[in-house]
Amino acid sequence: MSASASRSIAIRGPALSFTGDPFRDGLEATMVHESDAIVAMTDGRISHFGPASLVAPLLPAGTEVRDYGSDALISAGFIDTHVHYPQTPMIASHGAQLLDWLNRYTFPTELKFADKGYARDIAKLFLRENLRNGITTSCVYCTVHPHSVDALFEEAEALGLRLAAGKVLMDRNAPEGLLDTAQSGYDESQALIAKWHGRGRLLYAITPRFAGTSTPAQLAAAGALWRENSDCLMQTHIAESRDEVAWIKELFPERRNYLDVYDHHGLCGARAVFGHGIWLDEPEMQRLHESGAAIAHCPTSNFFLGSGAFDIARAVRKERPVRVGLGTDIGAGTSFSIMATLDAAYKASQLNRQSLSAGHAYYLATRGAARAMYLDDKIGSLAAGMEADLVVLDMRSTPLIDARMSGARDFPEQLFIQMTLGDDRAVQATYVAGRLAYVKTPGVV
Ligand code: GUN
Ligand code: ZN
Repeated sequence: MSASASRSIAIRGPALSFTGDPFRDGLEATMVHESDAIVAMTDGRISHFGPASLVAPLLPAGTEVRDYGSDALISAGFIDTHVHYPQTPMIASHGAQLLDWLNRYTFPTELKFADKGYARDIAKLFLRENLRNGITTSCVYCTVHPHSVDALFEEAEALGLRLAAGKVLMDRNAPEGLLDTAQSGYDESQALIAKWHGRGRLLYAITPRFAGTSTPAQLAAAGALWRENSDCLMQTHIAESRDEVAWIKELFPERRNYLDVYDHHGLCGARAVFGHGIWLDEPEMQRLHESGAAIAHCPTSNFFLGSGAFDIARAVRKERPVRVGLGTDIGAGTSFSIMATLDAAYKASQLNRQSLSAGHAYYLATRGAARAMYLDDKIGSLAAGMEADLVVLDMRSTPLIDARMSGARDFPEQLFIQMTLGDDRAVQATYVAGRLAYVKTPGVV
Protein backbone atom coordinates (compact mmCIF):
# COMPACT_ATOMS: atom_id res chain seq x y z
CA MET A 1 0.00 0.00 0.00
CA SER A 2 1.33 3.45 -0.85
CA ALA A 3 2.19 5.91 1.88
CA SER A 4 -0.48 8.36 0.75
CA ALA A 5 -3.21 5.70 0.77
CA SER A 6 -2.58 4.87 4.41
CA ARG A 7 -2.27 8.50 5.55
CA SER A 8 -4.67 9.49 8.30
CA ILE A 9 -6.47 12.78 8.36
CA ALA A 10 -9.12 14.07 10.69
CA ILE A 11 -11.63 16.88 10.53
CA ARG A 12 -13.24 18.76 13.37
CA GLY A 13 -16.51 20.67 13.76
CA PRO A 14 -20.18 20.19 14.63
CA ALA A 15 -21.52 16.96 13.13
CA LEU A 16 -24.82 15.30 12.27
CA SER A 17 -25.50 11.61 11.70
CA PHE A 18 -28.13 8.92 12.22
CA THR A 19 -27.84 5.59 14.01
CA GLY A 20 -31.21 4.30 12.78
CA ASP A 21 -34.46 5.18 11.06
CA PRO A 22 -36.20 8.22 12.59
CA PHE A 23 -39.43 7.42 10.72
CA ARG A 24 -39.55 4.16 12.67
CA ASP A 25 -37.94 5.00 15.99
CA GLY A 26 -38.16 8.77 16.25
CA LEU A 27 -35.46 11.45 16.01
CA GLU A 28 -34.67 11.34 19.70
CA ALA A 29 -33.44 7.73 19.41
CA THR A 30 -31.70 8.00 16.03
CA MET A 31 -30.27 11.48 15.37
CA VAL A 32 -26.78 12.25 16.63
CA HIS A 33 -25.75 15.89 16.80
CA GLU A 34 -22.31 16.61 18.22
CA SER A 35 -21.53 20.28 18.73
CA ASP A 36 -17.76 19.62 18.49
CA ALA A 37 -16.82 16.34 16.85
CA ILE A 38 -13.81 14.75 15.21
CA VAL A 39 -14.14 12.43 12.22
CA ALA A 40 -10.84 10.63 11.60
CA MET A 41 -10.17 8.77 8.36
CA THR A 42 -7.60 6.15 7.40
CA ASP A 43 -7.33 4.13 4.19
CA GLY A 44 -10.64 5.42 2.88
CA ARG A 45 -12.64 4.55 5.98
CA ILE A 46 -13.74 6.35 9.09
CA SER A 47 -11.53 5.21 11.96
CA HIS A 48 -13.08 7.36 14.71
CA PHE A 49 -16.16 9.51 15.16
CA GLY A 50 -17.24 11.18 18.37
CA PRO A 51 -16.87 14.22 20.62
CA ALA A 52 -13.52 15.93 19.97
CA SER A 53 -12.56 15.68 23.63
CA LEU A 54 -12.86 11.89 23.52
CA VAL A 55 -11.46 11.24 20.04
CA ALA A 56 -8.45 13.61 20.06
CA PRO A 57 -6.41 11.54 22.58
CA LEU A 58 -7.01 8.38 20.52
CA LEU A 59 -5.55 9.67 17.25
CA PRO A 60 -2.14 8.43 16.09
CA ALA A 61 0.60 10.92 16.82
CA GLY A 62 1.04 13.39 13.97
CA THR A 63 -2.52 13.08 12.64
CA GLU A 64 -3.44 16.30 10.89
CA VAL A 65 -6.72 17.70 12.30
CA ARG A 66 -8.45 20.20 10.00
CA ASP A 67 -10.74 22.39 12.09
CA TYR A 68 -13.74 23.76 10.19
CA GLY A 69 -14.95 25.86 13.12
CA SER A 70 -18.28 26.18 14.90
CA ASP A 71 -20.27 27.42 11.86
CA ALA A 72 -19.65 24.20 9.94
CA LEU A 73 -21.62 20.98 9.90
CA ILE A 74 -20.00 17.65 9.05
CA SER A 75 -22.29 14.96 7.64
CA ALA A 76 -22.03 11.74 5.71
CA GLY A 77 -21.92 12.60 2.00
CA PHE A 78 -25.30 13.05 0.36
CA ILE A 79 -26.75 10.20 -1.69
CA ASP A 80 -28.87 10.72 -4.81
CA THR A 81 -30.98 7.60 -5.41
CA HIS A 82 -32.34 8.59 -8.82
CA VAL A 83 -30.63 10.67 -11.49
CA HIS A 84 -30.00 10.69 -15.26
CA TYR A 85 -26.49 11.94 -16.03
CA PRO A 86 -27.19 12.27 -19.79
CA GLN A 87 -29.92 14.77 -19.00
CA THR A 88 -27.50 17.25 -17.40
CA PRO A 89 -27.38 19.39 -20.58
CA MET A 90 -31.19 19.60 -20.89
CA ILE A 91 -32.05 20.63 -17.33
CA ALA A 92 -34.62 23.49 -17.35
CA SER A 93 -36.43 22.58 -20.58
CA HIS A 94 -39.70 24.47 -20.72
CA GLY A 95 -43.32 23.64 -21.12
CA ALA A 96 -44.06 19.90 -21.09
CA GLN A 97 -45.36 17.17 -18.82
CA LEU A 98 -43.75 13.74 -18.56
CA LEU A 99 -44.61 11.86 -21.78
CA ASP A 100 -44.37 14.94 -23.99
CA TRP A 101 -41.18 16.03 -22.21
CA LEU A 102 -39.56 12.65 -22.95
CA ASN A 103 -40.29 12.96 -26.67
CA ARG A 104 -39.53 16.66 -27.03
CA TYR A 105 -36.38 17.00 -24.97
CA THR A 106 -35.10 13.78 -23.43
CA PHE A 107 -34.82 11.44 -26.37
CA PRO A 108 -33.18 14.02 -28.70
CA THR A 109 -30.62 14.74 -25.96
CA GLU A 110 -29.92 11.06 -25.28
CA LEU A 111 -29.33 10.46 -29.01
CA LYS A 112 -26.21 12.64 -28.74
CA PHE A 113 -24.63 9.97 -26.52
CA ALA A 114 -23.94 7.87 -29.60
CA ASP A 115 -20.66 9.85 -29.41
CA LYS A 116 -18.51 8.53 -26.54
CA GLY A 117 -16.50 11.75 -26.39
CA TYR A 118 -19.70 13.68 -25.70
CA ALA A 119 -20.70 11.11 -23.07
CA ARG A 120 -17.34 11.57 -21.35
CA ASP A 121 -17.64 15.37 -21.32
CA ILE A 122 -21.10 15.19 -19.77
CA ALA A 123 -20.02 12.52 -17.26
CA LYS A 124 -17.24 14.86 -16.08
CA LEU A 125 -19.64 17.79 -15.79
CA PHE A 126 -22.17 15.63 -13.93
CA LEU A 127 -19.68 14.30 -11.39
CA ARG A 128 -18.20 17.74 -10.85
CA GLU A 129 -21.68 19.08 -10.05
CA ASN A 130 -22.26 16.17 -7.68
CA LEU A 131 -19.11 16.95 -5.71
CA ARG A 132 -19.92 20.69 -5.66
CA ASN A 133 -23.18 19.70 -3.99
CA GLY A 134 -21.76 17.22 -1.52
CA ILE A 135 -23.19 14.19 -3.35
CA THR A 136 -20.77 11.29 -2.98
CA THR A 137 -22.95 8.43 -4.24
CA SER A 138 -25.67 8.27 -6.84
CA CYS A 139 -27.80 5.70 -8.60
CA VAL A 140 -27.57 6.72 -12.22
CA TYR A 141 -29.38 6.08 -15.48
CA CYS A 142 -27.07 6.20 -18.50
CA THR A 143 -28.40 5.95 -22.09
CA VAL A 144 -29.03 2.90 -24.23
CA HIS A 145 -25.42 3.08 -25.48
CA PRO A 146 -23.09 0.76 -23.51
CA HIS A 147 -20.21 3.24 -23.89
CA SER A 148 -22.31 5.83 -21.97
CA VAL A 149 -21.92 3.48 -18.97
CA ASP A 150 -18.19 3.03 -19.60
CA ALA A 151 -17.73 6.81 -19.76
CA LEU A 152 -19.44 7.37 -16.40
CA PHE A 153 -17.79 4.46 -14.60
CA GLU A 154 -14.33 5.42 -15.90
CA GLU A 155 -14.72 8.96 -14.53
CA ALA A 156 -16.23 7.74 -11.24
CA GLU A 157 -13.43 5.22 -10.80
CA ALA A 158 -10.82 7.93 -11.28
CA LEU A 159 -12.49 9.91 -8.47
CA GLY A 160 -12.82 6.86 -6.20
CA LEU A 161 -16.59 7.26 -5.95
CA ARG A 162 -19.06 4.65 -4.81
CA LEU A 163 -21.61 4.81 -7.60
CA ALA A 164 -24.28 2.62 -9.16
CA ALA A 165 -25.27 2.96 -12.80
CA GLY A 166 -26.65 1.05 -15.74
CA LYS A 167 -27.41 1.06 -19.42
CA VAL A 168 -31.00 1.99 -20.16
CA LEU A 169 -33.04 -0.82 -21.72
CA MET A 170 -35.61 0.37 -24.29
CA ASP A 171 -37.05 -1.65 -27.14
CA ARG A 172 -40.16 0.35 -28.06
CA ASN A 173 -41.77 3.80 -28.08
CA ALA A 174 -38.54 5.75 -28.54
CA PRO A 175 -36.54 6.90 -31.61
CA GLU A 176 -34.86 4.14 -33.61
CA GLY A 177 -31.38 5.31 -32.56
CA LEU A 178 -32.23 4.73 -28.88
CA LEU A 179 -33.67 1.23 -29.18
CA ASP A 180 -32.03 -2.07 -28.34
CA THR A 181 -33.78 -5.44 -28.37
CA ALA A 182 -34.62 -7.85 -25.59
CA GLN A 183 -31.59 -9.95 -26.59
CA SER A 184 -29.07 -7.17 -27.34
CA GLY A 185 -30.06 -5.28 -24.17
CA TYR A 186 -29.56 -8.45 -22.15
CA ASP A 187 -26.19 -9.24 -23.78
CA GLU A 188 -24.86 -5.69 -23.43
CA SER A 189 -25.97 -5.45 -19.79
CA GLN A 190 -24.41 -8.83 -19.02
CA ALA A 191 -21.08 -7.66 -20.50
CA LEU A 192 -21.22 -4.39 -18.53
CA ILE A 193 -21.96 -6.28 -15.31
CA ALA A 194 -18.96 -8.55 -15.92
CA LYS A 195 -16.77 -5.51 -16.55
CA TRP A 196 -17.93 -3.12 -13.83
CA HIS A 197 -20.05 -4.64 -11.05
CA GLY A 198 -18.02 -4.86 -7.87
CA ARG A 199 -14.93 -3.28 -9.47
CA GLY A 200 -13.60 -1.06 -6.67
CA ARG A 201 -16.60 0.83 -5.35
CA LEU A 202 -18.72 0.58 -8.49
CA LEU A 203 -22.03 -1.27 -8.70
CA TYR A 204 -24.22 -2.14 -11.64
CA ALA A 205 -27.92 -1.23 -11.75
CA ILE A 206 -30.06 -3.15 -14.24
CA THR A 207 -32.07 -0.35 -15.85
CA PRO A 208 -35.26 -0.97 -17.83
CA ARG A 209 -36.29 2.69 -18.33
CA PHE A 210 -39.97 2.02 -17.58
CA ALA A 211 -42.79 -0.21 -18.73
CA GLY A 212 -43.73 2.24 -21.48
CA THR A 213 -40.48 1.72 -23.37
CA SER A 214 -39.96 -2.02 -22.85
CA THR A 215 -41.91 -4.90 -24.37
CA PRO A 216 -42.92 -7.79 -22.11
CA ALA A 217 -40.05 -9.74 -23.73
CA GLN A 218 -37.54 -7.08 -22.64
CA LEU A 219 -38.95 -6.91 -19.11
CA ALA A 220 -38.63 -10.71 -18.92
CA ALA A 221 -35.00 -10.47 -20.12
CA ALA A 222 -34.30 -7.81 -17.46
CA GLY A 223 -35.86 -10.08 -14.85
CA ALA A 224 -33.64 -12.96 -15.97
CA LEU A 225 -30.59 -10.70 -15.85
CA TRP A 226 -31.41 -9.69 -12.28
CA ARG A 227 -32.05 -13.29 -11.21
CA GLU A 228 -28.63 -14.23 -12.58
CA ASN A 229 -26.96 -11.18 -10.97
CA SER A 230 -29.04 -10.73 -7.84
CA ASP A 231 -26.54 -8.53 -6.00
CA CYS A 232 -26.94 -5.84 -8.69
CA LEU A 233 -29.41 -3.04 -8.14
CA MET A 234 -32.45 -2.70 -10.39
CA GLN A 235 -33.89 0.72 -11.19
CA THR A 236 -36.89 1.91 -13.15
CA HIS A 237 -39.72 4.44 -13.04
CA ILE A 238 -43.21 3.85 -11.67
CA ALA A 239 -46.46 5.80 -11.24
CA GLU A 240 -44.91 9.21 -11.81
CA SER A 241 -47.78 10.90 -13.65
CA ARG A 242 -51.45 10.09 -14.04
CA ASP A 243 -51.23 10.05 -17.86
CA GLU A 244 -48.36 7.57 -17.60
CA VAL A 245 -50.34 5.30 -15.25
CA ALA A 246 -53.29 5.31 -17.69
CA TRP A 247 -50.96 4.50 -20.61
CA ILE A 248 -49.32 1.59 -18.80
CA LYS A 249 -52.78 0.22 -18.04
CA GLU A 250 -53.49 0.25 -21.80
CA LEU A 251 -50.17 -1.43 -22.61
CA PHE A 252 -50.53 -4.15 -19.94
CA PRO A 253 -54.29 -4.70 -19.47
CA GLU A 254 -53.70 -8.18 -18.07
CA ARG A 255 -51.68 -6.97 -15.07
CA ARG A 256 -53.31 -6.14 -11.71
CA ASN A 257 -51.62 -2.76 -11.31
CA TYR A 258 -48.47 -0.86 -12.39
CA LEU A 259 -46.15 -2.57 -9.90
CA ASP A 260 -47.45 -5.97 -11.02
CA VAL A 261 -46.09 -5.26 -14.52
CA TYR A 262 -42.60 -5.30 -13.00
CA ASP A 263 -43.29 -7.90 -10.32
CA HIS A 264 -44.65 -10.37 -12.89
CA HIS A 265 -41.34 -10.13 -14.75
CA GLY A 266 -39.18 -10.64 -11.66
CA LEU A 267 -38.44 -6.94 -11.21
CA CYS A 268 -39.53 -6.26 -7.63
CA GLY A 269 -37.44 -7.06 -4.56
CA ALA A 270 -34.50 -6.04 -2.40
CA ARG A 271 -32.18 -3.59 -4.23
CA ALA A 272 -34.96 -2.39 -6.56
CA VAL A 273 -35.20 1.40 -6.64
CA PHE A 274 -38.45 2.66 -8.17
CA GLY A 275 -38.43 6.32 -9.20
CA HIS A 276 -41.37 8.47 -8.05
CA GLY A 277 -44.27 6.18 -7.03
CA ILE A 278 -46.59 9.15 -6.48
CA TRP A 279 -49.71 7.38 -7.75
CA LEU A 280 -49.21 3.91 -6.25
CA ASP A 281 -52.21 2.41 -4.50
CA GLU A 282 -52.29 0.62 -1.16
CA PRO A 283 -51.72 -2.96 -2.46
CA GLU A 284 -48.67 -1.68 -4.40
CA MET A 285 -47.25 -0.02 -1.27
CA GLN A 286 -47.84 -3.23 0.65
CA ARG A 287 -45.98 -5.23 -2.00
CA LEU A 288 -43.03 -2.80 -2.01
CA HIS A 289 -42.87 -3.15 1.76
CA GLU A 290 -42.91 -6.93 1.88
CA SER A 291 -40.47 -7.30 -1.03
CA GLY A 292 -37.95 -4.82 0.41
CA ALA A 293 -38.02 -2.58 -2.68
CA ALA A 294 -37.50 1.18 -2.38
CA ILE A 295 -38.97 4.40 -3.77
CA ALA A 296 -36.78 7.30 -4.89
CA HIS A 297 -38.63 10.49 -3.96
CA CYS A 298 -37.76 13.18 -6.52
CA PRO A 299 -39.67 16.29 -5.48
CA THR A 300 -38.07 19.00 -7.68
CA SER A 301 -38.79 16.83 -10.70
CA ASN A 302 -42.34 16.11 -9.59
CA PHE A 303 -43.08 19.82 -9.28
CA PHE A 304 -41.25 20.75 -12.50
CA LEU A 305 -43.18 18.24 -14.63
CA GLY A 306 -46.42 18.82 -12.72
CA SER A 307 -46.51 15.12 -11.82
CA GLY A 308 -47.83 15.48 -8.26
CA ALA A 309 -46.75 15.67 -4.62
CA PHE A 310 -45.43 12.37 -3.24
CA ASP A 311 -46.91 11.56 0.17
CA ILE A 312 -43.91 10.45 2.18
CA ALA A 313 -45.84 10.04 5.44
CA ARG A 314 -48.06 7.52 3.69
CA ALA A 315 -45.08 5.67 2.16
CA VAL A 316 -43.35 5.12 5.48
CA ARG A 317 -46.54 4.28 7.41
CA LYS A 318 -45.54 2.19 10.43
CA GLU A 319 -47.66 -0.89 9.68
CA ARG A 320 -45.98 -1.37 6.27
CA PRO A 321 -43.04 1.03 5.88
CA VAL A 322 -41.51 1.32 2.42
CA ARG A 323 -37.84 2.24 2.08
CA VAL A 324 -37.56 5.79 0.69
CA GLY A 325 -34.51 7.67 -0.55
CA LEU A 326 -34.16 11.10 -2.07
CA GLY A 327 -33.47 11.73 -5.76
CA THR A 328 -32.62 14.81 -7.80
CA ASP A 329 -33.89 13.20 -11.04
CA ILE A 330 -31.82 15.57 -13.17
CA GLY A 331 -32.86 16.68 -15.85
CA ALA A 332 -36.57 16.71 -14.92
CA GLY A 333 -35.29 17.68 -11.49
CA THR A 334 -34.20 21.29 -11.36
CA SER A 335 -31.24 21.25 -9.01
CA PHE A 336 -28.18 19.21 -8.08
CA SER A 337 -28.46 20.75 -4.64
CA ILE A 338 -29.64 18.35 -1.96
CA MET A 339 -30.70 21.39 0.09
CA ALA A 340 -32.98 22.51 -2.76
CA THR A 341 -34.26 18.96 -3.08
CA LEU A 342 -35.05 18.79 0.66
CA ASP A 343 -36.78 22.15 0.39
CA ALA A 344 -39.01 20.66 -2.33
CA ALA A 345 -39.57 17.50 -0.24
CA TYR A 346 -40.81 19.71 2.59
CA LYS A 347 -43.22 21.47 0.22
CA ALA A 348 -44.45 18.13 -1.16
CA SER A 349 -45.19 17.01 2.40
CA GLN A 350 -46.99 20.29 3.10
CA LEU A 351 -49.26 19.70 0.10
CA ASN A 352 -50.14 16.38 1.77
CA ARG A 353 -50.94 18.22 5.04
CA GLN A 354 -47.80 16.94 6.77
CA SER A 355 -44.64 18.81 7.79
CA LEU A 356 -41.46 16.85 7.16
CA SER A 357 -38.98 17.70 9.93
CA ALA A 358 -35.47 18.81 9.03
CA GLY A 359 -34.02 15.80 10.84
CA HIS A 360 -36.17 13.37 8.90
CA ALA A 361 -35.28 15.20 5.69
CA TYR A 362 -31.49 14.90 6.23
CA TYR A 363 -31.98 11.22 7.04
CA LEU A 364 -33.62 10.75 3.62
CA ALA A 365 -30.58 12.27 1.91
CA THR A 366 -28.03 10.18 3.83
CA ARG A 367 -28.70 6.99 5.78
CA GLY A 368 -32.24 6.59 4.41
CA ALA A 369 -30.97 6.79 0.84
CA ALA A 370 -28.19 4.32 1.66
CA ARG A 371 -30.79 1.96 3.08
CA ALA A 372 -32.92 2.31 -0.05
CA MET A 373 -29.87 1.09 -2.02
CA TYR A 374 -28.94 -1.59 0.57
CA LEU A 375 -25.66 0.22 1.21
CA ASP A 376 -26.29 1.42 4.77
CA ASP A 377 -23.57 -0.89 6.08
CA LYS A 378 -21.04 1.05 3.96
CA ILE A 379 -22.19 4.65 3.48
CA GLY A 380 -24.71 7.19 4.72
CA SER A 381 -23.62 7.64 8.32
CA LEU A 382 -20.65 8.65 10.44
CA ALA A 383 -19.28 5.69 12.37
CA ALA A 384 -16.01 3.81 12.65
CA GLY A 385 -15.68 1.34 9.78
CA MET A 386 -17.92 3.22 7.36
CA GLU A 387 -16.47 4.44 4.08
CA ALA A 388 -15.15 7.98 4.52
CA ASP A 389 -17.46 9.95 2.21
CA LEU A 390 -18.27 13.26 3.88
CA VAL A 391 -19.69 16.68 3.22
CA VAL A 392 -18.79 19.76 5.24
CA LEU A 393 -21.48 22.43 5.18
CA ASP A 394 -21.05 26.12 5.87
CA MET A 395 -24.07 27.06 7.99
CA ARG A 396 -23.67 30.78 7.16
CA SER A 397 -23.14 30.57 3.42
CA THR A 398 -25.09 33.69 2.35
CA PRO A 399 -25.87 37.02 4.03
CA LEU A 400 -29.55 36.06 4.39
CA ILE A 401 -28.76 32.67 5.93
CA ASP A 402 -26.25 34.35 8.23
CA ALA A 403 -28.90 36.81 9.44
CA ARG A 404 -31.58 34.14 9.82
CA MET A 405 -29.23 31.79 11.70
CA SER A 406 -28.62 34.48 14.31
CA GLY A 407 -32.27 34.20 15.32
CA ALA A 408 -32.39 30.39 15.33
CA ARG A 409 -33.33 28.92 18.71
CA ASP A 410 -32.00 25.39 18.32
CA PHE A 411 -30.30 22.89 16.03
CA PRO A 412 -33.49 21.62 14.29
CA GLU A 413 -34.30 25.20 13.36
CA GLN A 414 -30.76 25.75 12.05
CA LEU A 415 -31.06 22.61 9.93
CA PHE A 416 -34.40 23.72 8.55
CA ILE A 417 -32.95 27.12 7.59
CA GLN A 418 -30.21 25.33 5.63
CA MET A 419 -32.62 23.16 3.65
CA THR A 420 -35.00 26.02 2.96
CA LEU A 421 -32.47 28.69 2.00
CA GLY A 422 -29.26 26.78 1.23
CA ASP A 423 -27.84 25.54 -2.05
CA ASP A 424 -24.42 24.66 -3.51
CA ARG A 425 -22.92 27.68 -1.73
CA ALA A 426 -23.46 25.85 1.57
CA VAL A 427 -21.07 23.06 0.57
CA GLN A 428 -17.56 24.00 1.63
CA ALA A 429 -15.83 20.65 1.21
CA THR A 430 -16.53 17.13 0.00
CA TYR A 431 -14.44 14.09 0.93
CA VAL A 432 -14.46 10.87 -1.08
CA ALA A 433 -12.95 7.77 0.52
CA GLY A 434 -11.03 9.97 2.95
CA ARG A 435 -9.63 12.26 0.26
CA LEU A 436 -10.54 15.91 -0.20
CA ALA A 437 -12.33 15.84 -3.57
CA TYR A 438 -13.88 19.32 -3.63
CA VAL A 439 -13.24 22.53 -1.78
CA LYS A 440 -15.19 25.70 -2.30
CA THR A 441 -13.12 28.60 -3.51
CA PRO A 442 -13.00 31.12 -0.65
CA GLY A 443 -14.88 34.32 -1.40
CA VAL A 444 -16.76 32.89 -4.38
CA VAL A 445 -20.51 32.66 -3.92
N1 GUN B 1 -39.97 8.05 -17.04
C1 GUN B 1 -39.34 7.37 -18.01
N2 GUN B 1 -38.16 7.96 -18.34
C2 GUN B 1 -38.06 9.05 -17.55
C3 GUN B 1 -37.06 10.06 -17.41
O1 GUN B 1 -36.05 10.10 -18.09
N3 GUN B 1 -37.31 11.01 -16.47
C4 GUN B 1 -38.42 11.00 -15.71
N4 GUN B 1 -38.58 11.97 -14.79
N5 GUN B 1 -39.36 10.07 -15.82
C5 GUN B 1 -39.19 9.10 -16.73
ZN1 ZN C 1 -35.98 9.58 -13.74
